[in-house]
Amino acid sequence: MKKLYAIGIDIGGTAIKHGICSSEGILIQHDSIPTPADAPKAIILQKIFEVISQNLALSQEQGMPISAVGVGTPGSVDIERGYLMGSTPNFKHWRNVAIAESIKHRFDLPVFADNDANLMAFGEFSFGAGKEKKDVICLTLGTGIGGGIIIDGEIYRGSFYAGSELGHMSIDYKGRQCNCGGQGCLERYASATALIQDYNLENPKNPVSGTKQIFLLAKAKDKIAQKVIKNFVSYLAAGIANVVNIFNPEMIIIGGGVSKAGAVFIEDIRDACQKRAMPVSFKNVEIVGATLGNDAGMMGATAFALKSLGKKGVVTS
Ligand code: BGC
Repeated sequence: MKKLYAIGIDIGGTAIKHGICSSEGILIQHDSIPTPADAPKAIILQKIFEVISQNLALSQEQGMPISAVGVGTPGSVDIERGYLMGSTPNFKHWRNVAIAESIKHRFDLPVFADNDANLMAFGEFSFGAGKEKKDVICLTLGTGIGGGIIIDGEIYRGSFYAGSELGHMSIDYKGRQCNCGGQGCLERYASATALIQDYNLENPKNPVSGTKQIFLLAKAKDKIAQKVIKNFVSYLAAGIANVVNIFNPEMIIIGGGVSKAGAVFIEDIRDACQKRAMPVSFKNVEIVGATLGNDAGMMGATAFALKSLGKKGVVTS
C-alpha cells in the first residue's frame, strides 16, 4: 500500500497542536501555538492557515506530499461538510464555522473536520492505547472535557453529529453552572481548568497556573493539593462510572495533560470508579492513560482525514 501523509490540526482551548503524520501513524513533526480562544473566528482561522502553510513548506522540503488535512475542534461538527454547528462552551466567537470549506478554498486540498475528542479517541484507537480494541471510550481532560466514543471500530457521533459530549454529563443536578448552559457538568469538576480553579480557591495567596504544579505540590505533601486531587479523582470516577454502566466498553482512555500525572493517578481513578460502577459492568473494563499524550488528537485528525479520503476512492494504506 502506498504511504500517504496528512496534516493534523487539533484546536484546543489553550493550544492549537499541529503536525504531519503518515498513514502508518509515524509522526513526522509536531508543534503548537497558543489558541486565541477569545478572538473573532477570522483570527482563529488565520492561525490555522498559518500552521498549515508551515507544515506544507516542511512537507515540501522533506519530499512528503500532503494528501489531506484533518481538523479537530471543540463543539459539534457536521463531518459531511466539515462544519462546526453552533458554538463551543470555552470559546467566545468560535461558532458556525465552515472549517473544511475555508481551508479548501485557501489551499486546494481535501479537508475533513470532526470534534476534537472524537479525533483524540480515533488517534488512540488507530495508533495508541486502543489499537487492539474495537469498543473504546476516551475522555480528554483539558480546558474542557471531551468525549470520544468508538463502537465496533467506528466513531459514534449521535444522530445529528452532536452526541458524545461526555464532559457535559451532569454529576450534580444542583451543581456548578457550566458554560454550556447546563448545571453540574463533569467538565466543571474534572477538567484541568476546574482542578486549577479548585486549588486556587483554597489557596488564593499562592495560586498555580497549571495542573502539573498541583501534582508536584501533592507529591511534596502539600495538604491543599492532596485534597483537591482527591476530590478531582472522585468527580472523575463518578463520571466514568456512568460511562461504564451505560456503555460497558472494553477500554476507557484518559487523555489530556492531566493523564501525564502517572500510573498512580490512573490507578486511583480505577479504584474510585470500581466503588461506584455496577460490578458486572465494571468487571472487564480497562482504564488506562492515553499513550499518544497530547499528540493523540492531532494524529487522530490525520488518520480520520486519510480514512475519509479512502472512502472517497483514494487508496490509503
Ligand atoms: C466541548 C466539547 C469538546 C471538549 C474538549 C467541551 O467543552 O463541549 O465539544 O470536545 O470541550 O475540547
